[in-house]
Amino acid sequence: MEVIGILDGFRGLTENRTRPLADADFSDILTRGGTFLGTSRDKPHRMPVANGTEVDLTAVAVANYERLHLDCLVCLGGGGTLKNSLRLMKQGGVNVVGLPKTIDNDVWGTDVCFGYDTAMTIVAEAIDRLHSTADSHHRVMVIETMGHRTGWLALGAGIAAGADVILIPEIPYSLDSVAESLVARLRRGRRFSIVVIAEGAQPVQPAPAETPELQPEQEAAAPAAEETPDDTPKEGRKKKKERVEPALPVAGAGFGGVGAALAEELQRRTHLEARVTVLGHLQRGGTPSPADRLLATRLGVAAADLIARGQYGVMVAVRGTECVPVPIEEVAGKLRTVPLDHSLVETARRLGTCLGDE
Ligand code: F6P
Repeated sequence: MEVIGILDGFRGLTENRTRPLADADFSDILTRGGTFLGTSRDKPHRMPVANGTEVDLTAVAVANYERLHLDCLVCLGGGGTLKNSLRLMKQGGVNVVGLPKTIDNDVWGTDVCFGYDTAMTIVAEAIDRLHSTADSHHRVMVIETMGHRTGWLALGAGIAAGADVILIPEIPYSLDSVAESLVARLRRGRRFSIVVIAEGAQPVQPAPAETPELQPEQEAAAPAAEETPDDTPKEGRKKKKERVEPALPVAGAGFGGVGAALAEELQRRTHLEARVTVLGHLQRGGTPSPADRLLATRLGVAAADLIARGQYGVMVAVRGTECVPVPIEEVAGKLRTVPLDHSLVETARRLGTCLGDE
């Protein structure tokens, strides 16, 4: 097989930036994190261009694929990568083999993604180190992890490192319940606590207050509720629900904030001294763990076999001990969130870990 590396992901494909890859190019990549080809978050159908706008370059990407006489495009990434791959398959007839790679571990259809184990190791190690200050200074240490939409990383690393509280996007948390769990620990003589929060975890939204029914005379006096005319008959109109803002800021794109707000609020409520650590992109750096090297190697070998057989339009998934092809069409656009009855959730509960909901 002849292997051509495409630089900077889909952006490189639209700009026809490639480099031929020989055996020697692969000799030192096993222990390296990141990608020596470079990457980007750009999508062929919404490619940012110089004047700040976005253009659809799908046709250009397909034309470059054809110009290179490729038999298959191997796409490594998470949900976004798979969605872009599916578009190229459908709109341009491109042959694709996908590999699930994300520290979020949230690709649908596979038990696990490569990158997850390494990130989990880094987070667990960081928590282990933070235990020292927590214990010695009798503090609440809040650790903010990645995970905008799913909590696999926070949950896995949190359990592995013995966190006392783990907050994930799938389980809206109550500040009362988190604060109470810290105070309860103190009563049991535990003078420190470790709180892990995924960047996408959200507090429970308080139920909107019921708007009292207006009496006819009050209604006549009340100012018009809406500026736009409403043609719906009065009896059929739905009562407008007030929008309730979350009690804490929602995570911004990579700027942290959720952990800091939580630490401040917990300190205010419990009078326990709190500190926050946002792990950020440290979680995606450095040498891959042996488990991830093994996984990526197994998936890569399986992908090469599929290409040799001409079996395209699939992602190589891990199912139990096997690597199996699953149609990209079945997995793209779906998110593998943490099921509320997942054994990790059950395990955390059985350990007495506070998940913020009870
Ligand atoms: O998609 C993986 C992920 O690591 C998320 O957990 C995180 O929110 C995001 O990437 C950060 O992306 P970026 O590096 O583009 O800021």
